[in-house]
Amino acid sequence: AKHLLGIEHLSPADITTILDLAEQYATLNRQANKHSSALAGMTQINMFFENSTRTLASFELAGKRLGADVMNMALGASSIKKGETLIDTAMTLNAMNPDLLVVRHQHSGAVDLLSQKVNCAVLNAGDGRHEHPTQALLDALTIRRAKGRLHRLNIAICGDIAHSRVARSNIFLLNKMENRIRLVGPQTLMPSGIDQFGVEVYHDMTEGLRDVDVVMMLRLQRERMDGAFIPSEREYYYRWGLTSEKLRAAKNDAIVMHPGPMNRGVEIDGDIADDINRSVIQEQVEMGVAVRMAAMDLLAQGLRAQTPAAVMA
Ligand code: CP
Repeated sequence: AKHLLGIEHLSPADITTILDLAEQYATLNRQANKHSSALAGMTQINMFFENSTRTLASFELAGKRLGADVMNMALGASSIKKGETLIDTAMTLNAMNPDLLVVRHQHSGAVDLLSQKVNCAVLNAGDGRHEHPTQALLDALTIRRAKGRLHRLNIAICGDIAHSRVARSNIFLLNKMENRIRLVGPQTLMPSGIDQFGVEVYHDMTEGLRDVDVVMMLRLQRERMDGAFIPSEREYYYRWGLTSEKLRAAKNDAIVMHPGPMNRGVEIDGDIADDINRSVIQEQVEMGVAVRMAAMDLLAQGLRAQTPAAVMA
């Protein structure tokens, strides 16, 4: 493929290829010398129209470890503020001949649209409530490492599903790999058309967590709620926050995940987030670098195959 825009159109074999390569990069990332030359001579531009800590930092590190020239567009200081459109901004950067464009945007579909206009490979770093493919891949790698497999697991995705691109990408990925998915949360935070997702829905946390292998918590995404009913944080924590009491319903060896950023005392108790016997939240972050290295390496291989050697020279 030329781009990585979502999980929806990847096959199980594609997913396994990315995870297997990411596993090799995870090993490299634990060594003193973390460098490879997979992107040597290439240029990577990170365009983030929405805030980010984990995704931006890990894409930047991933590109640098692979030997690319990496530029982060400071969009707060860009001509977007003067009224330039997303596409005009992207075409301007495209004219500088980047090889990889990593884009986060607040509108679902914006990254897809942009990929149709530019010549380089585009990676979706999260678009609106649509998809966040590298997040689902890093979650999958974390699960596979903790559980020794990525199939036939019971996985609960809990909280604000409706506004979550992380949930959507994870549902696509975990379904493709033949897991059993439960969505757990209030009716008001469930997406419409849920019947098409191939999931079970629970509106009681203890019931939803019963005997699951993986508990994936999500943040209340207030920035996408535009006027919808928002419960108070206290009330939300009481009913939907992950506490040790509620976690007791899950299997004894169930792992706890969170994509971050995390709101302690709202969707998750801080002690659980920090419990190294249950929480794999830090490992998710670590796997984020490895997965982004793998995704960019595979796209770069495709670019090199398309580019005549004479032009590369
Ligand atoms: N999980 C995630 O996308 O985090 P950031 O918003 O910090 O990148």
